[in-house]
Amino acid sequence: MQSPTVSRIAHAAPDGVPLSDKEIFGFVCFLFIGGLDTVFATMNNIWLYLAQNPAKLEEIHARPDDIDKIVEELLRRWSVTFSGRVLDKDYEMRGVQMKKGDRVTFILPACNFDPDVFPNPKEVDFDRPRKTILAFTVGVHSCMGAHLARLEVKIGLQEWLKRIPKFAVKPGTEIEYRPGGVIGPEQLPLVW
Ligand code: HEM
Repeated sequence: MQSPTVSRIAHAAPDGVPLSDKEIFGFVCFLFIGGLDTVFATMNNIWLYLAQNPAKLEEIHARPDDIDKIVEELLRRWSVTFSGRVLDKDYEMRGVQMKKGDRVTFILPACNFDPDVFPNPKEVDFDRPRKTILAFTVGVHSCMGAHLARLEVKIGLQEWLKRIPKFAVKPGTEIEYRPGGVIGPEQLPLVW
């Protein structure tokens, strides 16, 4: 089956000018890469948490109808990446001077830990009132794959838990993280 998204990229003609082969290749690569490490890291973080918190796992089993808000809370608690930009003009924020051309990084996960918005933010609470989370950022460059990512986590959890209702981290495993743009355990050996 032809992918509608890739097909749209291949046939796109902004302002009537078709994209070049290089641009098409770039956009398609970006689309695939955007959905690889992010989903991998998100799932590793969530599965690690559930392996270490059997009471939360039980709660998920007990509340199948709440799966969407469960996924949203897990995505809030484990937002894995950030936004980077290059300033197009001089800017001042809270007394900090920034210059045109400076590179800035927005630590999105920190926004999901703002206690004024999410009280007791480190706690996983599936009954939090629904609020915008910044896992996928917001605005014109927000994640194109956010809906797919939410579905992947949701279906991943549903199908996994049907077959493997209880699991744990393999004894003796040391969980390792690698510095980089996407944060999650490098490997997660599980036993059941
Ligand atoms: C849990 C998984 C994911 C997370 C946490 C995530 C997070 C993000 C974030 C924070 C951005 C904004 C980056 C910025 O502002 O510089 C972004 C952009 C993007 N993401 Fe995702 N993403 C995920 C999954 C996916 C998937 C599954 C796809 C595609 C199949 C995807 C494709 C993209 C693309 C194409 C952009 C660029 C959008 C633009 O610049 O207009 N992402 N993502």
